[in-house]
Amino acid sequence: MILLTGATGTTGRRVARRLTKWGYRFSALVRNPDKTSGLKSSKVELIKGDLRKPDSLRRAMEGIEHAFLLPPNTENQFRLERNFIDAARESGVKYLVKYSAIGADPDSPSRLLKWHGEAEKYLEQSGIRYSIVRPNIFMQNFTNLYAGRIREEKEFRLPFGDARCGWVDARDIGRLIARMLTENGHKSNILTVTGPESLSCDDIAEILSQAVGKKIEYVDVKPREFKNEMVESGMPEIMAEAVTELYKLVSDGLCDVVTDTFYEITEKQPRTFDEFVDDNLRLFLKKKPKSKK
Ligand SMILES: NC(=O)c1ccc[n+]([C@@H]2O[C@H](COP(=O)([O-])OP(=O)(O)OC[C@H]3O[C@@H](n4cnc5c(N)ncnc54)[C@H](OP(=O)(O)O)[C@@H]3O)[C@@H](O)[C@H]2O)c1
Repeated sequence: MILLTGATGTTGRRVARRLTKWGYRFSALVRNPDKTSGLKSSKVELIKGDLRKPDSLRRAMEGIEHAFLLPPNTENQFRLERNFIDAARESGVKYLVKYSAIGADPDSPSRLLKWHGEAEKYLEQSGIRYSIVRPNIFMQNFTNLYAGRIREEKEFRLPFGDARCGWVDARDIGRLIARMLTENGHKSNILTVTGPESLSCDDIAEILSQAVGKKIEYVDVKPREFKNEMVESGMPEIMAEAVTELYKLVSDGLCDVVTDTFYEITEKQPRTFDEFVDDNLRLFLKKKPKSKK
């Protein structure tokens, strides 16, 4: 049996969708079973639990052989991941897929990458067979975070300079993780997963402009300004600082990486940014006011 965490979020719900499409039964650890509308299926067993509560994790792991750990970005991320890895070891889980990030390193100057790096090391020493999936930056950040401003102001704001990134579609990561979880015999490994091409924000502005038929501008904001904007939009100060640290590394070229990992594992080509924009076009277009008759 497979256990997912994060199944209500950007990546996890795509893993869940893929498993369901392929006909697998699985369990999903969720904090609030009443808020899981996208997960309703006879193939999914919802288990109430929380990465902060070790007892709930041990209960969720009864009978589990393969588990997916998706850590939310929080200050105590490493502790949450340790809770999950400890429960998996105690419960005899045979294979654990940990979601991480490109550049994860316990010595990274970025807190987010440091937390991921610490958890990676902890997992490597746990004795559990594992895969660590390090995705590049998500294309879905544009639908989740920037689409409103693109629709309303015809711009998006990031502190990336002219750095390039191998943007990856979360639908592809979902497929890859579902594949890992449903196969046996993977040796412990680290997989860096990217899209097919490395693009700058100016390249993306051009793709968006072509798609919506209007000029969409990339505004290269200063890191301090970017941080303040995130705080104004409601992000806790500490997380805004952590994201800004990470984005400094992105502007220095951290994400200018393209790998063949997705193709090697799934035998499919990863989606391009053009395809991603085409598939989500309505989110980037301003709704026309309804005409009064
Ligand atoms: N965005 C990027 O470009 C990018 C790139 C590389 C790596 N990453 C990594 O991706 C991860 C985030 O993935 P995502 O964007 O797919 O997730 P997400 O959309 O932010 O969703 C987070 C998930 O974690 C669950 N969760 C939060 N706190 C929890 C807790 N205490 N116990 C159990 N579940 C909890 C949430 O459930 P609820 O429904 O209960 O809230 C939700 O399902 C981070 O580790 C980040 O570092 C992101």
